[in-house]
Amino acid sequence: MTRGVLDGQVAVITGGSRGIGLAIGQAYRAAGAHVVLAARKADGLAEARSELLGVAAAGEVHTVVANAGEPEQAQRCVDEAMERFGRLDVLVNNAATNPYHGELIGLDPSRAEKTVRVNQYGMIAWTRCAWHAWMAEHGGAVVNIASVGGLIVDPHIGYYNATKAAMLHLTRQLAYELGPAARVNAIAPGLVKTELARAVWEVREPILTEKLPLRRLGTPEDVANAALFLASDASSWMTGQTLVLDGGALALPIGVEG
Ligand SMILES: NC(=O)c1ccc[n+]([C@@H]2O[C@H](COP(=O)([O-])OP(=O)(O)OC[C@H]3O[C@@H](n4cnc5c(N)ncnc54)[C@H](OP(=O)(O)O)[C@@H]3O)[C@@H](O)[C@H]2O)c1
Repeated sequence: MTRGVLDGQVAVITGGSRGIGLAIGQAYRAAGAHVVLAARKADGLAEARSELLGVAAAGEVHTVVANAGEPEQAQRCVDEAMERFGRLDVLVNNAATNPYHGELIGLDPSRAEKTVRVNQYGMIAWTRCAWHAWMAEHGGAVVNIASVGGLIVDPHIGYYNATKAAMLHLTRQLAYELGPAARVNAIAPGLVKTELARAVWEVREPILTEKLPLRRLGTPEDVANAALFLASDASSWMTGQTLVLDGGALALPIGVEG
């Protein structure tokens, strides 16, 4: 059903070497797109590229070593995408960092600054590059990977969640500022089985899922399916919105923990 919906388009995906970003790369390529994967480590990107090219699809795969929190590296990545493919239709702001666990009272300035720089300012810096390079003139779609944590209070990762809440607001703000040329939407995933969250789900999966309406944690492919919808014309009248994918966790009655 989704084959060909991104035929000939080009997508840049930050944090594209594993987990949710890699699954989005797989879905976009299967839908006909050329993909540009950005991450900090070259070896992870090389593995990701081989994995994508191992699946038959027409789209090329280009990789760029770039930190999502460094605006000049965002510019270099977008420049490379434009040089290689001549267009940039979809930007997925997926990379995030979470350097601090604990109560806000103990948060130090350096980890606070890093969290904002990568998660919150990063999405603006990358969007600006994509906008000037292609989207202002030709249109496009921006997909921001936030978190259901941006909608709730958590005892351990409150500051990371605050940057995710900011992403949801900035998604609406950018939708207002960049329309009608570009659409900007977000996804707020619940707990997804990736490296990032391994310590949370690995030893407690049965407990975490027993009360969830859908009785399972998320997979990177669950998020990729939504990211494909938001990149494609199937969502052409949708901007400034957040899709929550959480197995029903937010639908639980108060007092019932998922
Ligand atoms: N997993 C969950 O339960 C969950 C839930 C809600 C939201 N999310 C969100 O989903 C997104 C993807 O998370 P994930 O679970 O797929 O994580 P993951 O499996 O740990 O993958 C993270 C990816 O981002 C890259 N990365 C990390 N820091 C980066 C930086 N500063 N600049 C560029 N790339 C960076 C990593 O490669 P390098 O290390 O080589 O840079 C890797 O490719 C994040 O925004 C996360 O907040 C995840």
